[in-house]
Amino acid sequence: MRDHQEQEPATVATAVREGDGSPIVVVDDVHHSFGSGPQAVHALRGVSFEVRRGELTALRGRSGSGKTTLLNLVGGLDTPTGGRITLDGTDLADLDEPGLLALRRDRIGFVFQSFGLIPVLTAAENVGVPMRLRRVPARIREERARTLLALVGLADHAEQRPGELSGGQQQRVAVARALANDPDLIIADEPTGQLDSETGRSVMELLRAVVRSESVTILVATHDPNLIELADRVVELRDGRIVDTGA
Ligand SMILES: Nc1ncnc2c1ncn2[C@@H]1O[C@H](COP(=O)(O)OP(=O)(O)O)[C@@H](O)[C@H]1O
Ligand SMILES: [Mg+2]
Repeated sequence: MRDHQEQEPATVATAVREGDGSPIVVVDDVHHSFGSGPQAVHALRGVSFEVRRGELTALRGRSGSGKTTLLNLVGGLDTPTGGRITLDGTDLADLDEPGLLALRRDRIGFVFQSFGLIPVLTAAENVGVPMRLRRVPARIREERARTLLALVGLADHAEQRPGELSGGQQQRVAVARALANDPDLIIADEPTGQLDSETGRSVMELLRAVVRSESVTILVATHDPNLIELADRVVELRDGRIVDTGA
C-alpha cells in the first residue's frame, strides 16, 4: 500500500497514524435547520460526540433522524447553523470555501449509498478521479488505482465500467476511490443501503478491514442493525438528538 513513497510523497502519508483513541472529529453542540420561520426543519438539535482515531464509528438512527445532515456537516459539505465541528484540531468554521474544498479532497473520502461512480469511466479511472483533482501524474495514479482495486478484491475488474459490475462490486470501487488520496477520515452514508444483506455485510467487513490495514478512521451512517456489531462504537441519533454517544 505504501510503496509509492519514493515516487510521489504527496499522495501517500508518510507518518503512521496510530489508532490511539484520540478524537479526530469533535462535534460540539451542533444545531442545523433547513429553512426558517414556522416552516423550518430542525434536523439537528444540539449534537455532541467524538469520533476516535483509528476506529469505525457507526451512526445509527431511523430515516429522518438527521444522519445525512450530520455527515454532510462533518464532511464540510454544509455549514451548521450552530455549534462547532473540528477535524484533527481544525475548526471547520475557520475554513473558507477553497479551504473546505481542499479538506474534502485531501483529508476525507466519501462513500454514498448510490455508489456515485462515473458510468463512462472504468473502475480504475473512477478510483483515479480524486487523484486527478490533486494533479497526481497518470502513471502513479494508475498504479495506485490498481493497488487499491486489489485491496478491495477487484484486481481483475480494473477495466470494467460500473454498468458491468454488480452493486457490491461498485461499492468496493467506491471504497477504493475513497482511499485514493489516503484520507484521515472516510465518511460513508448508508453504504449498504442498496445492497442485499449478504453483500452489504461483505462491504461492511471490507470497511472494517480497511480501518486496520490503511490506518483510516471511518464514520458510517446505517440503520441496519446487522451491521452495527462490526463497529467499534455506536452513536445513536433520534429526532436530531444523540441518545447514545457510544462512549
Ligand atoms: N435539504 C433539506 N431541506 C429541508 N429539509 C431537509 C433537507 N435535508 C434533510 N431535511 C430534513 O431533515 C431531517 C433529517 O434528515 P436526514 O439528515 O436526511 O436524515 P437521515 O439521513 O437520518 O434519514 C428530516 O426531517 C429531513 O426531512
Ligand atoms: Mg440519510
